[in-house]
Amino acid sequence: MSEIITDIVDSPLQHLAIIMDGNGRWAKQRKLPRLAGHQQGAEAVTRIVDECVKRKIRYLSLFAFSSENWGRPQSEVDALMGLLLQFLVSQQQQMVAKGIRLQVIGDRLRLSESVQLALADAEKKTVAGNTMTLILALSYGGRDEIMRAAKQMAQRAIAGELDINQLNNEKFATFLDTSEFPDPDLLIRTSGEVRISNFLLWQTAYSELYFTDVLWPDFGAVELGNAIDVYMCRQRRFGLTNEQLEE
Ligand code: FPP
Repeated sequence: MSEIITDIVDSPLQHLAIIMDGNGRWAKQRKLPRLAGHQQGAEAVTRIVDECVKRKIRYLSLFAFSSENWGRPQSEVDALMGLLLQFLVSQQQQMVAKGIRLQVIGDRLRLSESVQLALADAEKKTVAGNTMTLILALSYGGRDEIMRAAKQMAQRAIAGELDINQLNNEKFATFLDTSEFPDPDLLIRTSGEVRISNFLLWQTAYSELYFTDVLWPDFGAVELGNAIDVYMCRQRRFGLTNEQLEE
């Protein structure tokens, strides 16, 4: 028990997750096409990645394209995929130089072949990065991820390779796309919406949540600092009592 408590009290911000929302509204406020908002959103990604490296955050998860975003107009889906490819081309060398490892979560088989290849290439070239892991959630939905994990587990059980009596939360988590990463400590959502929208449903069970009205293209070092300041003042109890933590 005391080991758990030490872990809680000493929990720094190791994993930050962000729901980047508000690109469309940012563009609308300026009477610009939605693509202009996404372009500024991509700039914000680069800024925040650098800021997280500076702040020695080990894992940064970004919700870049949800499984539900496939339902957007085809022109917007294509534009978002184009921006992703541009980001990979323009940032790959920088990521290698800064020691950033790129990893992807989500149903990548739904992505086009060219995007899948570019992602695999970027993952391979950045594999040695050990400063920070940038986790891009693409074609990602929390329920979809849990369902894929459950199916894989069921297949293993039917094949006699898995004893369902041995299953527990830790074992289940090894079937998720995020099996290599710790759970997020802090989840930020921009743009004033106050919901999780199917992002990291399993993993955010005990994450601290922070919502800001700032639209994603306007989110920068100052806004990130504000969120982290709030996080640092939170007491994470993980179901334990205040007295246990103070002991
Ligand atoms: C939500 O804003 C944002 C998205 C659906 C896509 C996020 C994409 C980027 C930040 C740019 C490209 C990403 C990378 C990794 C290079 P919204 O369109 O739902 O905004 P709205 O709610 O105001 O319409």
